[in-house]
Amino acid sequence: MARRRWAATGEQLARWMASLESAPALPSALILLGGSAGWMMSPDFLARFKTVLLVDIDPWAPRLFALRHGATLRRHGVQLDFLRGDVHELLDRALAAQPQACVLFDNFLGLDSIYTRSLEVTARRMRGIRQRMRGRLWGSVHDRLSGPGTADWRHADCWARDWSAQSGQALPQQDMFASVQAQGHWLDHHTEHVLPPGLNTRLIAWPIVPGRWHWLEAAWVDAR
Ligand SMILES: C[S@@+](CC[C@H](N)C(=O)[O-])C[C@H]1O[C@@H](n2cnc3c(N)ncnc32)[C@H](O)[C@@H]1O
Repeated sequence: MARRRWAATGEQLARWMASLESAPALPSALILLGGSAGWMMSPDFLARFKTVLLVDIDPWAPRLFALRHGATLRRHGVQLDFLRGDVHELLDRALAAQPQACVLFDNFLGLDSIYTRSLEVTARRMRGIRQRMRGRLWGSVHDRLSGPGTADWRHADCWARDWSAQSGQALPQQDMFASVQAQGHWLDHHTEHVLPPGLNTRLIAWPIVPGRWHWLEAAWVDAR
């Protein structure tokens, strides 16, 4: 059921991942942070790398990831390695091991303010990520806002919109809320500092469970 409910979100994410193809001199290695079982990972995107280093705190992640994507990885000769632990602690090690790799923060940064319990620490951490990504081709998909909404995902016409902080536009919150028929309290995931200012990003709706929506933000940054 989740697979059907998440399909449109997955297609939007696959389209966004594919947009990396337009970057010059694409690396053949990927560092995939918080990749989990790869529920929303595009097989076509994975297939374009020679090595994938999955970093996740969940010890089950590599087995679940291989269950879902093993056939694709084998067919395209992609080597999958795993590093278990907290990304914030392991990031420098992963970067040193893969100096040329492209890096994807795969939908886990929106959880940080829950763990840090401090907006200041979260903001510092997010800005720190940008600094640690200097010299890299990198991207992130992360929660911006989440909460209840009564829009029926089978009919909803809300899957994605482009947003350009560059043109000084404020996040189109009211439009996003209206399209999922938002109700009640919504959570701000405090991920506004993950990406550098002045970037074109993609806002993608995700009906995580019936009656609850997340608005994801996704963008690539070429900081090489
Ligand atoms: C929402 S899931 C990601 C879903 C994944 N992108 C997919 O397509 O299935 C978040 C994942 O990030 C991992 N995670 C969360 N915080 C982490 C951290 N600080 N370090 C490492 N892994 C983390 C969790 O274990 C979980 O597997």
